[in-house]
Amino acid sequence: MKGVILAGGLGSRLRPLTKITNKHLLPIYDRPMIFYPIQAMINAGIKDIMIVCGGNHAGEFLRLLGNGKDFGLKHLNYTYQEGEGGIADALALTRFFVDDDRVAVMLGDNIIENNFLQAKNDFEAQETGAKILLKEVADPRPYGVAEVSGGKVLGIEEKPQQPKSNLAVIGIYFFDNTVFKIVDTLKPSGRGELEITDVNNAYIQRGDMSYSILEGWWGDAGESFESLIEVSNLVYQTGANKMP
Ligand code: G1P
Repeated sequence: MKGVILAGGLGSRLRPLTKITNKHLLPIYDRPMIFYPIQAMINAGIKDIMIVCGGNHAGEFLRLLGNGKDFGLKHLNYTYQEGEGGIADALALTRFFVDDDRVAVMLGDNIIENNFLQAKNDFEAQETGAKILLKEVADPRPYGVAEVSGGKVLGIEEKPQQPKSNLAVIGIYFFDNTVFKIVDTLKPSGRGELEITDVNNAYIQRGDMSYSILEGWWGDAGESFESLIEVSNLVYQTGANKMP
């Protein structure tokens, strides 16, 4: 399985912090944000990783990460996303890297207390389709929100005003190779982006989506100034990417 970490976008919600650097290079306690998803991929046993950079400061990723030596990697792959086309647009850029394999996708601003090894193993045992990870949160309105019943996901709404549950769809997704065909059919959403939620809903409509609930805390550090500091504090207090 290939690993893709999405670190594009202009980080407009975090200006002026993101005026002179990329959002995913901002500090989370003692490390740049992007270090956490890379470590999470490696902890799940995924070492063939592509980072999708973007914005005006993409060169800084190379200076910081190089070939991934700090993580014990021999090689890292990079690609560049122009503009703010959205998560699904960024994923489309990895088509030639993923080739005929499956892919685990992690958003570069998502940080987890533990690891997603179990979910990755469960997806490997799944013959086709996709898998998402959910987490109960107090206010799910800034996220994709899943409605589930009888062990199945019925649908996902992106940033709903009146959420149907408290289950946020976290930024870790597993897809089979048909994901690229789905991305080809997408149309931009109201915010002008190709939405990962539309990709997930296509799998749900096909009846080929599973889910698990993530254990331990989860944070979308790039969501707001508040989440940036909250996630930093969580990492400081408890550490991140812990193995059992
Ligand atoms: C994105 C997804 C959303 C998901 C969130 C997790 O939101 O669109 O479904 O719940 O990441 O971090 P964005 O960060 O683009 O607002």
